[in-house]
Amino acid sequence: MMQKNKPILKTLAGEKTDIVPFWFMRQAGRYLPEYRALRAEAGGFLNMVYNPKNASEITLQPIRRFQMDAAILFSDILVIPQALGQKLEFLAGEGPKLEALNVDSDLGFLNPDKIDDVLNPVYDTVTMTCDKLKKEGFDQTALIGFAGSPWTVATYMVEGGGSKTYEKVKSWAYGSPEKFQQLIDILIVSTNHYLEKQIKAGAEIIQLFDSWSGVLDQVNFEKWVIKPTAQIALNLKSKYPDIPIIGFPRGAGTMSLDYAQKTGIRAIGLDFTMPCDWAAKNLQSILPVQGNLDPVMLLTGGKALDAAVYHILDSFPDKAFIFNLGHGVIKETPPEHVGQVVEIIKSYKR
Ligand code: CP3
Repeated sequence: MMQKNKPILKTLAGEKTDIVPFWFMRQAGRYLPEYRALRAEAGGFLNMVYNPKNASEITLQPIRRFQMDAAILFSDILVIPQALGQKLEFLAGEGPKLEALNVDSDLGFLNPDKIDDVLNPVYDTVTMTCDKLKKEGFDQTALIGFAGSPWTVATYMVEGGGSKTYEKVKSWAYGSPEKFQQLIDILIVSTNHYLEKQIKAGAEIIQLFDSWSGVLDQVNFEKWVIKPTAQIALNLKSKYPDIPIIGFPRGAGTMSLDYAQKTGIRAIGLDFTMPCDWAAKNLQSILPVQGNLDPVMLLTGGKALDAAVYHILDSFPDKAFIFNLGHGVIKETPPEHVGQVVEIIKSYKR
């Protein structure tokens, strides 16, 4: 059963808490020596993701050091394309590589009915992580499940990996929207299923990562970011009304307001380019917000880091707020810098 008294769940219910709850995107990962040790033993990233014992262990690693208010499932947004049947590799130091789709591809091979053949270990990780959190006494820490939003996952499926310009995926979406909609629909169905199963396995919060929502013009942002996100939020809320959904439309700028109002998400994650005063006035007034320390500030440390943390904390005094980064922890970050931020947040009273 879900414990509603966990601080982050109170915040997501809209309550202003005295102590600000916090977690960090990519809080489990290469900046932690214990992660690097386990990775060397497991022999690669995907061997950790699809091994519930390894993945749950990695999920717990940052919690043991820093007692975050949320643990986040150790997995990746690209397990969905892989489970659908697209070839995926993570080459050390190079990031993900997928066999790219294009507008002429026959999408028939992408099969949403069979994704659990690949994804079952991820659901086991969720359950195992819940058990470990309880057993180790982290009864204030909630478990976040997640997926990439359809648009962002589609960018990787079409570009074949990261991209500087997103020309291929944008050209397809702009030039052949009906065919692109077929791909997005496959992703909506799969993502809904994947997240429902994470919730059934024990996830208490869902975060939707839309890392590349910021590369679209307004009309296409509405079509490919807001609409699919709204379909997922509507489905999850109809089945699991108590599970809060955090949307993270990175780079969306002032379009975040439309996103907050039209998608039906419960809370919004801010990237570090978002001005705190604008977000407090326009977003925090209507829903809980989460953010938004620049990960490079966390890497830098020192007095600049202290000042940046206080600036953020001081910017959102009135309503529900969760402290986080504006993007993921960078792998060269000294863990002590994370400790420095945690100390400030824990002693900060609103
Ligand atoms: O936040 C967490 O601690 C939970 C785990 C998590 C990972 N990826 C683990 C990971 C989460 C939530 C993600 C989300 C993710 N994955 C996103 C959305 C957030 C964002 O960063 O914008 C995206 C775009 C991906 C796709 C992805 N996975 C890329 C581009 C890369 C390579 C870049 C990099 O940072 O190495 C990955 C690999 C990846 N996913 C690693 C981790 C810990 C590094 C794997 C390793 O080499 O050990």
